[in-house]
Amino acid sequence: MPNKGIHTTLVNSGSHTLDQNGVTVKTINPPVHHASTVLFESYTDLQAAARGEYRGVSYGTAGLPVQRAFEGAMTALEGGAYTKAFQSGINAITTALMAFTRSGDHILVVDNVYGPTRRFCDQTLAKFGVRTEYLPSAVSADVQDYIKPETRLIFLESPGSNTFEIQDIPAITALARENDIITIMDNTWATPLYLKPFDLGVDVIIQSVTKYISGHSDVLLGTVTVQADRVDTFKRFCWTMELYASPDDCYLALRGLKTLALRLRHHEAAAREVAAWLAGLDIVEAVLHPALPGHPQHQLWKRDFTGSTGLFGFVFKQEYPDQAVAAFIDALELFGLGFSWGGYKSLMTVGQYRRTAASKYKARTVFRVNIGMEDARDLIADLKNGLKHLNGHRETADA
Ligand SMILES: Cc1ncc(COP(=O)(O)O)c(C=O)c1O
Repeated sequence: MPNKGIHTTLVNSGSHTLDQNGVTVKTINPPVHHASTVLFESYTDLQAAARGEYRGVSYGTAGLPVQRAFEGAMTALEGGAYTKAFQSGINAITTALMAFTRSGDHILVVDNVYGPTRRFCDQTLAKFGVRTEYLPSAVSADVQDYIKPETRLIFLESPGSNTFEIQDIPAITALARENDIITIMDNTWATPLYLKPFDLGVDVIIQSVTKYISGHSDVLLGTVTVQADRVDTFKRFCWTMELYASPDDCYLALRGLKTLALRLRHHEAAAREVAAWLAGLDIVEAVLHPALPGHPQHQLWKRDFTGSTGLFGFVFKQEYPDQAVAAFIDALELFGLGFSWGGYKSLMTVGQYRRTAASKYKARTVFRVNIGMEDARDLIADLKNGLKHLNGHRETADA
């Protein structure tokens, strides 16, 4: 049978059966068990569980059918060997970072990494003797200049948070392998549909399932997927942490997977339309969207990715006073103001982002847009109206 298309694969992901009193119950969607305790059939099974030799699930934290169905679906989609779901994306990130480091290690993290990932490295990993150094956001083979004998791990996020630079992933992973360094990639922006990090040499993939995979802004969930040679280390660490993900959230994430490909198509098309419109405005200096030909790493995006999603940024040519920005933002009717992204509603955030390495956007105000499932022309009309409220720029907003 030829390889199945992505829509077929998603619809058939996470299938299961349930045995009840010898009768096999088969539904399209998995059952959701709310359970801490799992009952054993016999004393022999109870003793086997105590020895860690029981073949079934022995406790809620080990993952019940719905968690396992979702994890299995993610393993297949990422093309890895094992996935574990966690209560949030950041929880997946911090667990992976702890699982693969130890005191005395040096790690390299891209400068455009998600803010709370940076905070965890600087404050918590540092407390346990792991030292973090930041790589330029668009790092490539120059990663070589940063590798030290004690470098154990490289953490990538491409495009990275808020400024959307792309890294040369195969160039970095090739050097990492030569130097026996593990690479972890936060692949939330592209999802498993638009980037295959394992094919580019990455060892561990993170998803904030909170974003596109669940897709409706009503779930917090994350996954870590590892290649075969990392399964033992990761499983052993997870076993000591006893972290788990809620069955209801895994159920919703699995349901989200079924429509992921369709939703992404809309996010991609609408975001490209809005981004192209913004790029044509006189008052806009740059639209930070890797699928636009003017993006500095557009060629790398074209080489490695098979699509783009709905999150991008833009900067104005001038820095506006707070009052003007407030007038623009508060005039928007279709864009909610709030963190996170990947859901059906369009959102806007505004900020200046911390950078260690040299960056064009170090002291600049970046507007971040999450394009949801609305019609692009309505979003453009809303932005156009909002921009009329930027002080003294009534005329250019009509460009
Ligand atoms: C790139 C990226 N990774 C990870 C996360 C963390 O996800 P969660 O909100 O599920 O903890 C976020 C959240 O905004 C993010 O933007």
